[in-house]
Amino acid sequence: MEQRGILYEGNVKRISLTDDEERVIIRYKDDATAFNNVKKAVIANKGVLNNKISAIVFEYLRDAGVENHYIATLGDRDQLCRRVEIIPLEVIVRNVIAGSMAKRLGIEEGTVPPNVIYDICYKADELGDPLINDHHAVALGIVTYDELHGIYDMAAKINGLLKSLFAEVGIMLVDFKVEFGRTKDGRIILADEVSPDTCRLWDMETNEKLDKDRFRRDLGHVIEAYEEVYGRLAGAERERNR
Ligand code: TMP
Ligand code: ASP
Repeated sequence: MEQRGILYEGNVKRISLTDDEERVIIRYKDDATAFNNVKKAVIANKGVLNNKISAIVFEYLRDAGVENHYIATLGDRDQLCRRVEIIPLEVIVRNVIAGSMAKRLGIEEGTVPPNVIYDICYKADELGDPLINDHHAVALGIVTYDELHGIYDMAAKINGLLKSLFAEVGIMLVDFKVEFGRTKDGRIILADEVSPDTCRLWDMETNEKLDKDRFRRDLGHVIEAYEEVYGRLAGAERERNR
């Protein structure tokens, strides 16, 4: 697959065109940002780990019937993906109250709600990715109500699958963010990444944080946490493929 020029470069990933117009190469960088770019750092080797973790997760989801953009891993930091037009929505799923929801509503972090909570944010850097609701999303012309219902259904299915994938390796899936994209033939599929950058992952026995909160909150041992997540997922994957 020949690389052709950069389509888009974000804070943590770079997307390149290829000689096939329906395929792109996604490179995972070591850069980390938090709080809408207020906090920035380079975390050596993070891109390599997130590339591997995301690949394991996307393959697992694909095998379970969740169509997504991942095609193959090309190298330490690169993966070949289907080209999609990203829908500018961050779809957040919460099993345990943490982060912005704990703060906004004054709920203690770690509280387990009786229901699964879905938030959507409008991806717009200049606005700081505001929290919006379904009606706002439709008014913005990003999605129709029907498409949004389909997206929530996919998010619910992804949540169920990821909860059990992580539970298998002793990790609680507290919350996560996913993004969806449109294929050339108009299908909406899972895209972007699933990694400790985009999930809250707590060790089930110790409650230790194994995700980007270690960076956001200056808890130290950031890369060690990502290595732990990768090591556990890779071990379970080897077992599944035996
Ligand atoms: P929050 O507590 O900041 O709302 O985040 C909820 C989850 O979504 C958490 O796992 C981090 C993830 N997330 C992202 O990956 N990117 C984002 O831009 C936001 C707002 C959240
Ligand atoms: N949008 C924030 C960021 O800049 C969310 C986070 O803290 O991960 O990455």
